[in-house]
Amino acid sequence: MGKLDNKLSLLLQFIDLIHVGIVICDQSLNDEPIVFANAAIEHITGYKVGEVLGRNCRFLQNGHTHQQGLLNIRQAIKSGIQCREIILNFKKNNSPFLNDITIMPIKENGRNSQYIAGILTEVKINSSQEIAQIPERDHETGLYNYRTFYLKSRELIAEAQSKQKYFAIGIVAVEFHHLIDEVSSYLFINNILTSLSKTFLNEFKSEDVITRLGDKNFLFGLIVDSDNPLWFTKKISKIIADSNKITPVYLAYSSKINYMATLPNIHTHLDQLITQTYKNSFEDCAPRHDALSNQLH
Ligand SMILES: Cc1cc2nc3c(=O)[nH]c(=O)nc-3n(C[C@H](O)[C@H](O)[C@H](O)COP(=O)(O)O)c2cc1C
Repeated sequence: MGKLDNKLSLLLQFIDLIHVGIVICDQSLNDEPIVFANAAIEHITGYKVGEVLGRNCRFLQNGHTHQQGLLNIRQAIKSGIQCREIILNFKKNNSPFLNDITIMPIKENGRNSQYIAGILTEVKINSSQEIAQIPERDHETGLYNYRTFYLKSRELIAEAQSKQKYFAIGIVAVEFHHLIDEVSSYLFINNILTSLSKTFLNEFKSEDVITRLGDKNFLFGLIVDSDNPLWFTKKISKIIADSNKITPVYLAYSSKINYMATLPNIHTHLDQLITQTYKNSFEDCAPRHDALSNQLH
């Protein structure tokens, strides 16, 4: 027994040393809470182990619950099978990151137990080798994926700096007012957002970079002459109003727009700009999620 304890303690120490995040969720408890998390979770998400225990992992989504990959995760959990998806999550400081998640049921005597393990890795958008397998553009919307957005925005920042122009981040969070049931609303919303994406591509310049972030958010990276946000707000509001004319009344939607332009210098960090613009969008609305309200209080 002593030997087993020893082995277990070594194993736990090892699990805390590895760099991928590991969580174990208990399906027999209400809402599948995390019952174990290793130290890497704090490094990846910014939350301490004690802050994630007892919660369902969805708090990392900050309300972005309509992501395609989540449909697959939900289905895999129901069917008791393994699944791997890249999901947009948010760190404790609100900065978005891509989370490469593998979930797998833990077996006991050859059968699924009540536990599901999750392996979490942050997709490093800065490194050039790693993401070669992810296509540059999302095939559905034609928009850049988040990583391409990131890399191209960094080029724009360098260009803006050399031309002494402003670099701007715009965030458009689309809000639907009358949701119908989960599955059909997902399909409807996806159709609308896909056609909205195409309009954005038509209405903005080809040098501008646009990505769809999570479910209903769009992120814009632009070089602009002035820091006045009005033109952006007006343009987006008109696009949304036009698009609403062809949307069924019960799915009418609006958008929350945040925009921040800055004259970049060598200290300008894209992560910080995105996070700051995100923070602004959260600050003037009621917290939608427990993760967020925990942070605010
Ligand atoms: C072991 C395990 C790990 C998970 N890890 C994450 C995660 O890191 N980020 C995330 O957004 N969702 C994660 N999920 C998925 C959510 O917990 C949840 O299952 C998903 O949002 C779909 O369910 P819902 O529709 O009830 O939200 C994980 C699920 C399990 C079982």
